Amino acid sequence: MAKGKTTVFFCQSCGHESAKWLGQCPACREWNTFVEETIEKKSTKVVQRERAAAGPVCLSSIETKDEERMSTRMDELDRVLGGGIVPGSLVLVGGDPGIGKSTLLLQVCQKLSEDEKNVLYISGEESLKQIKLRAARIGKFSDQLLLLCETNLNLIAETIRQRKPDVVIIDSIQTMYNEEISSAPGSVSQVRESTSVLMQLAKGLGISVFIVGHVTKEGTVAGPRVLEHMVDTVLYFEGDRHASYRILRGVKNRFGSTNEIGVFEMRESGLTEVQNPSEFMLNGRLEAASGSVVACSMEGTRPILLEIQALVCHSTLAVPRRAAAGMDYNRINLLLAVLEKRMNLKLGNQDVYVNIAGGIRISEPAIDLGVILAVVSSYQDRPIDEKVLVFGEVGLSGEVRAVSQASQRVQEARKLGFTTVILPEVCREQMGEIEGVRLYGVRTVADAVRLIRK
Ligand code: TYD
Ligand code: MG
Repeated sequence: MAKGKTTVFFCQSCGHESAKWLGQCPACREWNTFVEETIEKKSTKVVQRERAAAGPVCLSSIETKDEERMSTRMDELDRVLGGGIVPGSLVLVGGDPGIGKSTLLLQVCQKLSEDEKNVLYISGEESLKQIKLRAARIGKFSDQLLLLCETNLNLIAETIRQRKPDVVIIDSIQTMYNEEISSAPGSVSQVRESTSVLMQLAKGLGISVFIVGHVTKEGTVAGPRVLEHMVDTVLYFEGDRHASYRILRGVKNRFGSTNEIGVFEMRESGLTEVQNPSEFMLNGRLEAASGSVVACSMEGTRPILLEIQALVCHSTLAVPRRAAAGMDYNRINLLLAVLEKRMNLKLGNQDVYVNIAGGIRISEPAIDLGVILAVVSSYQDRPIDEKVLVFGEVGLSGEVRAVSQASQRVQEARKLGFTTVILPEVCREQMGEIEGVRLYGVRTVADAVRLIRK
C-alpha cells in the first residue's frame, strides 16, 4: 500500500470508525454495517502548516451582518429553518427514498428564483428531462434557476465558484464523488469529504447549500446520520409514503430551535403546506368510538391535537401482544403496568394495540394520560365524549404530573371546538378560568378514569 494510506472500517449507518472489522457497531448497535475503506492520512507536518495560517481574534473584532434570512415563502419550511435560510449555511435534508425531498427542494428553487435569487440545482440522480417533467407538475419556473446534472464534486465546486449563486441544492450527496478519494460514491469517506468541500464553499462564499441525503435501510450507502455533526441544520422528512401528508422535522439547528415541525401534503402538483395540522390530524375520526381519545402534544412552539386509538381485546396467546405505532413501545408497557397496579385493570390476558392516527411520531410524555384513557375506554368498551381533550404526564405511582405550556394547549383545543379539557390539577390551578371550555384538573389516573365514567 502506498505511503500515507491506511485502511479503516466505517459503520455505514452512523459513521463510527474502527481499525478492524466488527459485527455490531458499538456506537449505534446496528449489525453488519462495517465496510472497509482506504483513507489517506496527511502527515501531521502539513496539517500544522495549514493550521498556522489563521491567527486568533477577539469577539468584538468579528463583523456580523445583521442576519438577513431569505424567506422560502413556505411558512412551514421557514419555521423549521428558524425563520428562513441563513446565508452561508449548510442544510441537510434527510428522508426515505421517494418521500418528497427532491420535490420540496425544487419548490424551494421555484420560490427563491421568483424572488430574484440565483439558484443552482445540481442533480446526480435524475436527468435534465426528468427534472423538467417534475417541474412541469409543480408549476412555472423563472430563468434565475439553473440546472446541472453532475456527480463530480471537483467540477461542481468549480461551477459554484464561477457562478456564485445564492443557493445551491445538491441532490443527493450519496451520488457525489471526489476524485482524490479512492472509495466508491456513497461510502462514508466520500460522503464526508464531499460535504466538507461543500461546507468550505458555503462558508467561504456565503452560499446557502441544501444537501439531500437518503436514509438507507441496508448498509450499502452511508446514511445522512454520518453527516449530522458537520452541517448547520438537519431536517428529516417523516411520514408514511403511502399517505399524503409529510412531516418535516428539525433535528439540529444552529440558527433556531429544534423540534419544530412543518406539515405538508403531497398533491398532484407537489407539496402544499398544511396550515392547521391539528385539523388535519383529526380528520376522519369516528364519533362515539370506544378507545379513541384526543390528546395534545407540543411540537416546538405549536400545539398539535391528535387522536390516540387503543384496542384492547382478549388474547389467545400465552404472552399477550402489545403493539405501539407512533409512540415508544416501552412507554406503552409502562403505562399498562400503571393501569394494572394502580387501577386494578386485568390486562394480563388482553392484547393491547395503541396507535396515533395520522402516522405522526410523538415522544412527548404529555400524551400519557390520553393513552391511559384510550386503553380504559377500549377495555370497558365505553366511548369518551368526542369534545374532550386530554393531556398530562403519568408517573409510576399513577399520579398525573404537570406539563409545559398548558394554556396554549387549551387554547388550541378551544379553537377546534373542544368544550372539555382534562388536565393535571397543578396546570389548572395556574390557569384560572377559560371562556367556553370546562377544565377538569386531575391528580391521579384514578381521578381521570372516574371523570370519563360520568
Ligand atoms: P421525490 O421528491 O422524488 O422523492 P425523493 O427525492 O425524496 O426520493 O418524490 C417522489 C414522490 O412524490 C413520487 O412517489 C411521486 C410523488 N409526487 C406527487 O405525488 N406529486 C408531485 O407533484 C410530485 C412532483 C411528486
Ligand atoms: Mg430525489
